[in-house]
Amino acid sequence: MKYIVAVDGPSGAGKSTVSKLVAEKLGIAYLDTGAMYRALALKIVNEKTDLPAPFEKGEKAGKLEALLADTEIEERDGRIFLDGRDVSGYIRMPEVAMIASASSALPEVRAKLVAIQRKHGERWSVIADGRDIGSNVFPGAKYKFYLTASPEERARRRRLELKEKGLDIPFEKVLSDINERDYADANRKVNPLTVAEGAEMLVTDGISAEQAADFIAEKVRAGETGS
Ligand code: DC
Repeated sequence: MKYIVAVDGPSGAGKSTVSKLVAEKLGIAYLDTGAMYRALALKIVNEKTDLPAPFEKGEKAGKLEALLADTEIEERDGRIFLDGRDVSGYIRMPEVAMIASASSALPEVRAKLVAIQRKHGERWSVIADGRDIGSNVFPGAKYKFYLTASPEERARRRRLELKEKGLDIPFEKVLSDINERDYADANRKVNPLTVAEGAEMLVTDGISAEQAADFIAEKVRAGETGS
């Protein structure tokens, strides 16, 4: 039976590490929706496109519409492609994350990416992680989880992740970036970060990604077999 697992939560909660592990355990596809917002943000940065305010009409909005119409985003085999080019190695920088957060507040940006995300869900069983998966992209998902952790723990993890990619950023800066982005993501008008109805909350302080993944995989297995 085809099913969808929705995983939402703030940045650094471990969503992507955990979701990837769950996908492996269950033998289903993994969709990193944040990577799509980041890939689009990379294009916005590269093309030096000024973002309009949400619902603003006029020149900036027109330019963004034109950019969106001329942009192809595709996720395949755990890689993210922007206009046919694999940009997986370029989307993790903090500047790209900030523009991803700012542009994700725009309804036209969300409309484009949500449509692509829903296509994945039509085809096969998938675990998708993001901010609005259980509340908006797949509100009918059979399994919904909300992963979170204390801001300090999330900043610690994010800092390690960036360090592995060769970026050594002070803890205080990572923490303030995380807090700023979470505030913006949770307070925007369109599809903000929220705990979806029916979602199970999982606080990941003090538990490993493997343990969190086992918890989710077990819930899904129990649901699928009815045991
Ligand atoms: O999960 P992430 O840090 O890679 O996501 C980057 C930004 O993209 C995040 O700050 C908000 C936005 N985003 C979103 O609005 N909706 C999603 N489903 C996923 C990400």
